[in-house]
Amino acid sequence: MRRWWMVLTILIGLALGAWLLLDPPRPVLNLLKRVDPSPETGAMLVERYGCRRCHRIGDRGGILAPDLNGITRRVDDPAHVVLRLWLRNPQAIKPGTAMPNFHLSDSEIEAILAYLKAVDARQP
Ligand code: HEC
Repeated sequence: MRRWWMVLTILIGLALGAWLLLDPPRPVLNLLKRVDPSPETGAMLVERYGCRRCHRIGDRGGILAPDLNGITRRVDDPAHVVLRLWLRNPQAIKPGTAMPNFHLSDSEIEAILAYLKAVDARQP
């Protein structure tokens, strides 16, 4: 009888662990990946997550995905609502998109946004 409980506890623990690892909910992400939402942090995150493997940002980057220069100046999204939602979960907006879900926390999204804004502000 006691062994049965032990097996059940281990199974629940494994399921919980897999969930937190594969699809961490937003409060957990915000707790574990809390950053200073500055453009400097954003620049560091863009390198860490390898956004430039696919996107051109400023004067460097790849051509596999849309050029992100000017993205924060889009007139159809002045408050950057779509941009934030996209960074939260690209597949939720466009199922099947090649852009991976990086499971970014809210402050990481703000930092990346601050960096993209700074890049756009530097260009005429
Ligand atoms: C594996 C390649 C890849 C990587 C890495 C990648 N993206 Fe993307 N991203 C895409 C693709 C492809 C699209 C175009 C979406 C579509 O139409 O399917 C896209 C779209 C976008 C858009 C919307 C562009 C628009 O014109 O509306 C933003 C913003 C964006 N990505 C930001 C980022 C950021 C920030 C990172 C790093 C955290 C990143 N991407 C990493 C492939 C990538």
